[in-house]
Amino acid sequence: MQKAKTRVAVVGVGTVGSGVVETLLQRGELLRRRGGVAVELAAVVDRDREKAVAAGAPENLIFDDFNAVVARPDIDIVVELVGGTGVAEKIIASALDNGKAVVTANKALLAEKGLKLFAAAREHHAPLAFEAAVGGGIPCIQAIRDGLISNNFSSCIGILNGTCNYILTEMITKGQDYDGALKQAQALGFAEANPRTDVEGFDTGHKLAILSALGFETWIDFDRLPITGIAGISATDIACTKEMGYVIKLLAVSKVMDGKLFLSVHPGLLNEWHVLAGVHGSLNAISLFGDLVQEAVFIGRGAGKNPTASAVVADIISTAKILGAGLDNLSWLPPEKPHFALGALADYTTRYYLRFTVADHVGVLAQIAASLSEHRVGIASVVQHERNDERDSAMIIAITDIAREGDVQNALTEIDRQEFSRAKTSLFRIEG
Ligand code: HSE
Repeated sequence: MQKAKTRVAVVGVGTVGSGVVETLLQRGELLRRRGGVAVELAAVVDRDREKAVAAGAPENLIFDDFNAVVARPDIDIVVELVGGTGVAEKIIASALDNGKAVVTANKALLAEKGLKLFAAAREHHAPLAFEAAVGGGIPCIQAIRDGLISNNFSSCIGILNGTCNYILTEMITKGQDYDGALKQAQALGFAEANPRTDVEGFDTGHKLAILSALGFETWIDFDRLPITGIAGISATDIACTKEMGYVIKLLAVSKVMDGKLFLSVHPGLLNEWHVLAGVHGSLNAISLFGDLVQEAVFIGRGAGKNPTASAVVADIISTAKILGAGLDNLSWLPPEKPHFALGALADYTTRYYLRFTVADHVGVLAQIAASLSEHRVGIASVVQHERNDERDSAMIIAITDIAREGDVQNALTEIDRQEFSRAKTSLFRIEG
């Protein structure tokens, strides 16, 4: 029987939590009208009461210890917005053990320790929803889980970190160097004071792990995910890739090739005409290929108070519907066994951008071409910039035909060892 009201406890009133509290308090009627369920804010938990007060929570609903609310019989849904992989795990585990439904935005916790939490959700028949964990306000989890349910996906390419996308956009459009663009992102509040999780690619990796579990029914051990961040990208590569008609983005890539799933986070190149190449600043985007839908693209705000609150509240409403309908755990659960074996990156095939820094001597270009050809790597185009200073080095940029990554790496190891090599060759995968 439909409950009169679904009662919600919000734990953690930071940026996102305050947006959720405000939305629940101010849009109850809209949510009832559109969602067909009545949700009521029944408790707000934060060690700093003032934050809860500032978000508009009534004094009698504010608590400073989550233990005081997660076991309460009148609470139906616990919304964990503390973040991180410490106390957040205790909050979720304790809520599930008490049979509460859980809504979380916590991508790091789900990617690194999710199997344990989903096992508890399964055991206690308690929905565990996580729309806000990937792509902020973009309803991509619901789209993959429900709207695109009948598709077999062959690829999913995402720009999933607003901080990195902002930094790269500044480097590409304004010629800023990496350090300058990062400082600017911090000054504008896009990047954290400690931006390592973002710029080293781990935040993108957490989101990729979740998307892959959903779209490809393959849960990956997070430590096995190949992750490269954006800190090593030089102004030279930004300028050279632009000249060749490409845009550098930090990409989360899942692709099925020869029956295996290839996953990686890396700065990759998109042709300037690719739909994701025009996704600038702090925006996020996801491009999916499904066998029925073909391409579906989602673009939107991947972070911030209101976009993320929009996703969290959507989860609260869909969870309230599940609870109201008395359906056992109709939320998503991880696959019991992986649908795909993971492919090794050495077997990945795509086109590559290679930038060689070499002695400007007769025959060097021929030796590079010979090494590539010996390793079965064809060249689609090549550009050499005329030397404009007194240094004895030249820059040669090659775009390869489709090649196997292991072959490209072997050729580069050979080339970089040659006497004519002046710097490690720069490599970017061309995606999309
Ligand atoms: N820090 C992330 C970003 C948002 O910059 O996109 C939260 O995952």
